Parts: sequence; C-alpha cells; structure tokens
Amino acid sequence: MTERHVLEAFRLNGRVALITGGGRGLGRVIADAFAQAGADIALASRSRASLDEAVTEIAAATGRRVQGFTADVTSPGDVDRLVADVERSLGPIDILVNNAGTNIRGSVTDLSETDWDTVIDTNLKGPFLCARAVGPKMAKRGWGRIVNLASVLAHIALAGRAPYCSSKSGVEGLTRVLALEFAGSGVTVNAICPGVFATEMNRPLIEDPVKYKEFVAKVPMGRWGELHELGGVALFLASDATSYMTGTSLVIDGGWSVW
Ligand SMILES: NC(=O)c1ccc[n+]([C@@H]2O[C@H](COP(=O)([O-])OP(=O)(O)OC[C@H]3O[C@@H](n4cnc5c(N)ncnc54)[C@H](OP(=O)(O)O)[C@@H]3O)[C@@H](O)[C@H]2O)c1
Repeated sequence: MTERHVLEAFRLNGRVALITGGGRGLGRVIADAFAQAGADIALASRSRASLDEAVTEIAAATGRRVQGFTADVTSPGDVDRLVADVERSLGPIDILVNNAGTNIRGSVTDLSETDWDTVIDTNLKGPFLCARAVGPKMAKRGWGRIVNLASVLAHIALAGRAPYCSSKSGVEGLTRVLALEFAGSGVTVNAICPGVFATEMNRPLIEDPVKYKEFVAKVPMGRWGELHELGGVALFLASDATSYMTGTSLVIDGGWSVW
C-alpha cells in the first residue's frame, strides 16, 4: 500500500475555511496559515475595515480566493445569512474556526448583566450558532473540521474574568458535545486554548507595563506568545493530520498551565 507523505496531510488544497473574527489578531494569523496551506478563505466580523485589509493582503500573498463578510455571530439571522453568502461565493464550508471573541473585565460586583450577556453571547452562543449552521452540512458531505478558540482561562481562574472564564469553559464543553454528535461522520471538533498573545483584546494589559510583566511572570517560558505561533496549531486541527482526534483541547500557553 502506498502511504501519502506525512506533510501532504497538512495541505488544505481545495478546502474552504470560514474564520469568524478573521480580520485581525489570532483569526488573521489563522487565515494566513490556512491560505498558505492552500485553502480559500472567508473572513467574518462586524466591521468592514479590518476585513478589507486582510482580504487584500492574504489574497496578494497567497493567490487564494479570499472574501470578507460582515456578520454578528451573536445573531442567528446573521449567521444563517453568512453561511449562505459564503457558500454562494466560495462553495461549501469545509473548515469552521469559531474565533470571534470578546472580553469585558471587572469584578462580579461591578459587572452588569449586559456585560455578562455580551461576553457569553459572543464567545459561547456564537460558536453554537455557527456550528449548528455549518456542522450538519459538513457531516452530510462526510468531511469537516470545527476548531473552537477556547482559552487557558478555561482551566485557570483569574479574578475579574467571570464571564470570560465561564464562556471559555463553556466552549470546551460545547467542543466535547459537538465532537460526540458528529463522531463517525468525518467531522472533527477540537479546541485551542491560547495563553497570552498581544492582540487588540489584550490592549489594556499591553499598555500597562506592570500588568504586562505580571503576565510574563505567569509563563514558565518567560514571554508572551508571538501571534505566528498559533498558525501551525490551528492548521494541525483543520487538516487531515488530525483525522482521529476529536473533542479535545490543545493548550498553547508557554507552559502557564503547567505550574
Ligand atoms: N489574545 C489572546 O491572548 C487570547 C488568549 C486566549 C484566547 N483568545 C481567543 O482567541 C480569539 C481571538 O482573539 P484575539 O485576541 O485575536 O481578539 P481580537 O484581536 O480582539 O479579535 C477579535 C475578533 O472577533 C471579532 N468579533 C468580536 N465580536 C464579534 C461578533 N459579535 N461577531 C463577529 N465578530 C466579532 C472582532 O471583529 P469586530 O469587532 O469587527 O466584530 C475581531 O475580528 C477569541 O475567541 C479570544 O477569546 C485570545
């Protein structure tokens, strides 16, 4: 029997990937990695500006088909329209990355109900709505990859992060249930748990030298993650290399959760 060369399992040629929140930050890194691996790319977020820039740059760098779509992942109507628009423009979605996310920091006594709902709706309901819209179609076609962005804060508590930690623990639970429901269909569902990366979301930590160093001190490797370090992990989970892996989480945190 001729076995395929192992590196071929990491190619995404002919695949269509939808990355929510793909215009900037970790989503943008994931989009770059997938396009370099041969996938056509759909990026979705609420604002147009970052999408347009990412679309132009990724298409120019890789020659792939890349399109941006405005959608709010907390809205079932937006999500259904997004999926229909992506399929019409690029074809059936093979890979879904539930990356769109937000964080509102504050103690439980200070946070409002609206703060709680915003974080939970974006980080947990959004992935549910997107997986519900895309997963069954993947299963019907017999191949699919759903990659959910959880966080090391699904495992480690930090004061002032109640909605965020709760949402990310929820994402891990959702990942495991989706993995069971799609098991045997060719669709795998896994999560990534990043530690600390310098994106817009972490601006309050980056701009405060004391807080920045506090987070360095939490990490045995002694530094924040570099954005590009997430691309290979996401590609691994989106590729054929992980065909026998579902319902699990990969932690990429410089050792933070090892302490
Ligand atoms: N950075 C880290 O250290 C870190 C660590 C652990 C986990 N994560 C997770 O990784 C993911 C990406 O984070 P990031 O750091 O790259 O954050 P980011 O730079 O703030 O990017 C978040 C992205 O999500 C989009 N988004 C937010 N709310 C949305 C909504 N309701 N509908 C559609 N798109 C929405 C944003 O675009 P618009 O505002 O235009 O909608 C943006 O493109 C998140 O799930 C985050 O929780 C990040």
